[in-house]
Amino acid sequence: MKRLLPLLACTARAFGATIEDCPGYTASNVVDADGTLTADLTLFGDACNVYSTDLPDLKLLVEYQTETRLHVKIFDAGLDVFQVQDHILPRPPSQNVSSSGAALQFSLEESPFSFSVTRSSSGEVLFNTTGSQLVFESQYVYLKTQLPQNPNIYGLGEHSDSFRLPTENYQRVLWNSESPFIPRLSNLYGSHPNYLDHRGGAGSHGVFLLNSNGMNININQTDTGEQFLEYNAIGGILDFYFLAGPSPSDVSRQYAEVVGLPAMMSYWTFGFHQCKYGYWDVNMVAEVVGNYSAANIPLETMWSDIDYMDLRQVFTTDPERFPLDKMRELADTLHQRGQHYIMMLDPGIHRLDNYSTFTRGDEKGVFLKADDGSNYRGVQWAGEVVWPDWIAPQTQEWWTDEISRFFDPESGIDIDGAWNDMNEASNFCPDVNCDPAQLAIDSNNPPQPTNPPRNNTGRPIPGFPDDFQPDPTGLAGRLQPRQEASGQMKGLPDRDLFSPEYRINNHRGDLSDSTLYTNITNVDGTHQYDTHNMYGLTMITATRNALLARRPGRRPFVLTRSTFAGAGTRAAHWFGDNNSSWDDYRTSIAQLLAFAAVHQMPMVGSDVCGFNGDAEEHMCARWALLGAFMPFYRNHADMSAPFQEFYLWELVAQAARKAIDARYRLLDYVYTAMYRSSTTGAPIANPLFFIYPADASTFGIDTQFFYGDALLVSPVIEDDAESVTYYLPDDIFYDFWTLEPMRGTGANVTADNVTWTDIPVHIRGGTVLPLRVESANTTAELHQKNFQLIVAPGLDGKAVGSLYLDDGDSLDVGDEKSDISFAWDGTTFKTTGTFGYSTDVAVESVVVLGGEQPVTQEGPWSLNEPFEFTLS
Ligand SMILES: *[C@@H]1O[C@H](CO)[C@@H](O)[C@H](O)[C@H]1NC(C)=O
Ligand SMILES: *[C@@H]1O[C@H](CO)[C@@H](O)[C@H](O)[C@H]1NC(C)=O
Ligand SMILES: *[C@@H]1O[C@H](CO)[C@@H](O)[C@H](O)[C@H]1NC(C)=O
Ligand SMILES: *[C@@H]1O[C@H](CO)[C@@H](O)[C@H](O)[C@H]1NC(C)=O
Ligand SMILES: *[C@@H]1O[C@H](CO)[C@@H](O)[C@H](O)[C@H]1NC(C)=O
Ligand SMILES: *[C@@H]1O[C@H](CO)[C@@H](O)[C@H](O)[C@H]1NC(C)=O
Ligand SMILES: *[C@@H]1O[C@H](CO)[C@@H](O)[C@H](O)[C@H]1NC(C)=O
Ligand SMILES: *[C@@H]1O[C@H](CO)[C@@H](O)[C@H](O)[C@H]1NC(C)=O
Ligand SMILES: *[C@@H]1O[C@H](CO)[C@@H](O)[C@H](O)[C@H]1NC(C)=O
Ligand SMILES: *[C@@H]1O[C@H](CO)[C@@H](O)[C@H](O)[C@H]1NC(C)=O
Repeated sequence: MKRLLPLLACTARAFGATIEDCPGYTASNVVDADGTLTADLTLFGDACNVYSTDLPDLKLLVEYQTETRLHVKIFDAGLDVFQVQDHILPRPPSQNVSSSGAALQFSLEESPFSFSVTRSSSGEVLFNTTGSQLVFESQYVYLKTQLPQNPNIYGLGEHSDSFRLPTENYQRVLWNSESPFIPRLSNLYGSHPNYLDHRGGAGSHGVFLLNSNGMNININQTDTGEQFLEYNAIGGILDFYFLAGPSPSDVSRQYAEVVGLPAMMSYWTFGFHQCKYGYWDVNMVAEVVGNYSAANIPLETMWSDIDYMDLRQVFTTDPERFPLDKMRELADTLHQRGQHYIMMLDPGIHRLDNYSTFTRGDEKGVFLKADDGSNYRGVQWAGEVVWPDWIAPQTQEWWTDEISRFFDPESGIDIDGAWNDMNEASNFCPDVNCDPAQLAIDSNNPPQPTNPPRNNTGRPIPGFPDDFQPDPTGLAGRLQPRQEASGQMKGLPDRDLFSPEYRINNHRGDLSDSTLYTNITNVDGTHQYDTHNMYGLTMITATRNALLARRPGRRPFVLTRSTFAGAGTRAAHWFGDNNSSWDDYRTSIAQLLAFAAVHQMPMVGSDVCGFNGDAEEHMCARWALLGAFMPFYRNHADMSAPFQEFYLWELVAQAARKAIDARYRLLDYVYTAMYRSSTTGAPIANPLFFIYPADASTFGIDTQFFYGDALLVSPVIEDDAESVTYYLPDDIFYDFWTLEPMRGTGANVTADNVTWTDIPVHIRGGTVLPLRVESANTTAELHQKNFQLIVAPGLDGKAVGSLYLDDGDSLDVGDEKSDISFAWDGTTFKTTGTFGYSTDVAVESVVVLGGEQPVTQEGPWSLNEPFEFTLS
């Protein structure tokens, strides 16, 4: 872990010092006012300066913020060390509760300083730093906590490892990076320094370290077998939020109280999305839409990757392949068909004197600067590029203006959402020896099209104007692949912002490799060294604000690759450039669970059928089914990958039709879960242990999940298999497809004969499921369909559920919403709640399961008022 260094580089450091030699701190002036505790921490011996310079004077602040949230902050007395800007991640106010009424208790040892957090009700120790010393240096911060044996730890994303994290010799690296093929055991596109620790019957709690610096988090055992977790950060402060739970979903909700509730998504965003990098021209984009219709597979939203851009420049269109007038016509035609359109916006801005997006930005001074005051340069798709400094106020102005111009419904392309990619930020310059201008030429960026534009062929696309005529050669077309401030928490002066002595294990290499140089100073005096992990978060904030300005009052939709804690308040996320493999098909479930249940990002999903490589027919059929039960459902592939639209194989088309039919009938069920998530933080998808927290057999499961909290999805998991062994908790379930009851016994069950168009899904007993009576080609049509309610009684014969209704798109619906609760007590079915959304849509029937046969009570009942009935 520690590197051997030349003597010259470590003058103040005892030769060969390791963190074990560090003196730790001693606490003094401990003031314990009820609900708040403060203390001074001073170095408890000679500085070890093991990786940089020990800070002699620290402060401790402990706040009992709510009954279930304890805030513990250790920071430098001089307030120089970088702290995450409040405007980027607003902190929750403290409710100043009394420690005696709080669910968590803080205690400290003075010399050497250590602290622990215990659960008040049971005395269970949740966090305990005793036995190892705090190290707080200018470029290295270390804290270690003991953990119980075999802990169940989840989170610390973004990663592609198991949902329950390994407990031995395991390292999580947090450093946002472009990560093609989503490598295992690596840092990926986002950083979420929070975990959930589940202790079965003893409860769950959460730990969030609000720190954006690069770090290695190690989960390991000592030589004598003691379990621990340790933070090794290259900067920032120790700003902890401890969340008491005690149920796992309580922890999720409490985390949302800290980082913010997720943004409510529009109804249409739950439709099926199609994208590909490598659609040849606008006609081909239209043809894909036409082909989906012809295949009778409902397509809600069409996407354009960077193909549409003129020489890969954002806010331009390729004049020959994607001419502006045709792009406008495409968007309008999609809208007339009740469909939607989303386009990509990358942060790298082509540095070219005749490119107005660049010149307007340059005049406003929105770009990150090199040390000589010139724009900092690198390489991205367009060639030599500069990057916006999203923290500068004029950057928002410029970005809003660019978005409003280019996507002006009257003169530009009337998009419905925006997609932010490459925002880690990705830089094609691999390292500091890069000459951007030369590399842009050498690497052929932007790639030059090799094929001439196609001519019209007289082959019209049904549902599109006559001037959309795709080339007869169909899928053949391809492009060629490819200031220092003090006392203001802006970062200590005199640091090595390029190569700190403590190395995090960034899979891309050094800190600045393939991204923005970490020694860049942002406009507010902070440095990329400290803010790197929030580059994507600040970009999506600007994009969301711009979309809000463009269409005030409507919910913005932003899809982002890079994320940080709190990103769910602003955007949806897909799991990046995965692979068309069974392994990544499986991994998407662990990723869904981590984002939806632990990191408060509900609107997530993977590139269905995989981004890189060849999607095989059977795998794509399985993925079409699995993806339909994830909140964000999009098929997307790379330019170098073969086409994988669902209609290209009859088997996959069948699987997709069935999957989308079920997804759409269930759309209001998951929309209700989204509403819950955005108002209470309740997870939109649940790990099995969130529902069965005392059942130890569920703790490690990441090949099954609850979609919402009522539908257990147990997809086929093995490569190319037609059977699946899955876990069924000790409870009553009902097959979603046949409504047959199935008594779980807390054991594995094997389903043989799971055809290529099947996915096992079960309704959990005790729930009421609202379903549209039939699916539709668009979500707008779906929104007009009547409902059928499925009552799935639990072992006690009862069931509850709910349905949220609104116009599907307004940011603030005011009172025009209905939040209807359903309750079945064994004989009587009753609805209660609020009925502010006026609708002609009715409940046609209620089907009660659990008897010898399902019993159907015919309506209709209005959804504008409560109703009830009793079955004899
Ligand atoms: C909690 O205490 C802080 C510091 O005294 C004060 O600023 C804040 O307003 C208090 N919050 C509430 C909710 O009382
Ligand atoms: C923390 O760990 C130390 C050393 O193992 C132990 O002595 C102490 O009791 C623990 N703290 C609490 C609150 O249990
Ligand atoms: C875990 O501990 C072992 C034994 O001390 C050590 O060799 C290994 O490097 C540690 N792994 C991590 C990720 O810290
Ligand atoms: C802008 O300048 C570039 C490089 O000099 C040139 O290739 C391009 O044609 C120019 N574009 C316009 C629209 O003038
Ligand atoms: C960052 O460090 C590199 C490599 O030493 C140097 O070339 C560059 O000028 C520095 N940039 C800034 C903004 O300080
Ligand atoms: C399109 O038409 C032009 C003019 O008729 C012709 O020169 C060109 O070769 C045609 N392109 C293709 C791809 O057929
Ligand atoms: C659309 O379908 C037609 C007819 O099957 C086929 O020839 C064409 O290649 C398809 N185009 C795309 C882009 O999928
Ligand atoms: C179910 O099967 C899995 C995979 O074979 C196994 O790891 C797990 O222990 C089994 N669970 C039970 C309760 O038998
Ligand atoms: C699988 O399904 C086929 C056709 O429905 C049936 O003939 C066969 O018996 C089933 N096999 C098993 C193992 O259930
Ligand atoms: C979609 O539209 C087609 C053609 O109009 C129609 O045949 C089909 O039934 C529709 N599908 C649904 C689910 O409404």
